[in-house]
Amino acid sequence: MLGRSRWLCIAALVSIAWCAADPETVWREYVDWYRRQPVSVTDARGRYLEHLRASGKDPQEIEERGRIIERLSRERRDELQLLFFDRTYASQTPRFNAAPNALLVEAVRERPPGKALDVHMGQGRNAVYLASLGWDVTGFDYSEEGVRAARLAAQKAGVKLNAVVARHEEFDFGTRRWDLVVLSYTWLPLRSPYVAKILASLKPGGLLVFEHMMDESGSETAAPWLPRPNQLLELFGSLRILRYEDVRAQADWSWRPERIARLVAEKPRLP
Ligand SMILES: C[S@@+](CC[C@H](N)C(=O)[O-])C[C@H]1O[C@@H](n2cnc3c(N)ncnc32)[C@H](O)[C@@H]1O
Repeated sequence: MLGRSRWLCIAALVSIAWCAADPETVWREYVDWYRRQPVSVTDARGRYLEHLRASGKDPQEIEERGRIIERLSRERRDELQLLFFDRTYASQTPRFNAAPNALLVEAVRERPPGKALDVHMGQGRNAVYLASLGWDVTGFDYSEEGVRAARLAAQKAGVKLNAVVARHEEFDFGTRRWDLVVLSYTWLPLRSPYVAKILASLKPGGLLVFEHMMDESGSETAAPWLPRPNQLLELFGSLRILRYEDVRAQADWSWRPERIARLVAEKPRLP
């Protein structure tokens, strides 16, 4: 029989051994688990810890893992966001409107097809629609699952699509290259240098179509891709504004009505 002090010693040794566990291993195991979960799983950390409890892991170890995951989730937000989109696009049950964006459909109705850029194209709902109208479309996104789905959708629709895996930080938007730039629920920060790149990339006469939820908080920490009231008018004021709306309506990427900003604007032709 082991004495009480010996048990305590063993418990202490086990916990010391665990504390020395590699945070990278803890993180990888967590991310691998999360990747395999259905897209409906949102509170990933809580659910993962529940899963560890159910599999009989030592409570102290679970607590320590929880702390490591909490810290790394703050430091590795970008990795988790990409994982969120990869899981979303790999899912058979999309949690967004998989039909082309209605504002875009209206905005291009009377336009002859030309060269279009779909920024943060996702699974290609807008890019494939434009290609089916005869537009020569390039779309980019950092989600490999999204780009894979877009290529597949284009193939199924029998249309050509230049679908690129890229981050906006590295993508070459070009100069006077596009007759249409689509910013549909993009996560592109609405500030320098991206706004300048978008403006420069439009051909004279080219069209910009933007739709997204708005930031009503005005907080410094609000997502930089959400426009504040009237902000689009300031940012894209050098264009000819054809349509601007600030409405409460059903958003393509939300379950409930949201305050949405919509903009359709044209780059002036050269004199
Ligand atoms: C809300 S979704 C919108 C997708 C698509 N435009 C639509 O309307 O369905 C935002 C997209 O931005 C992409 N994204 C976020 N940050 C990115 C980055 N830094 N570089 C490239 N793509 C990014 C995500 O992968 C995701 O597909």
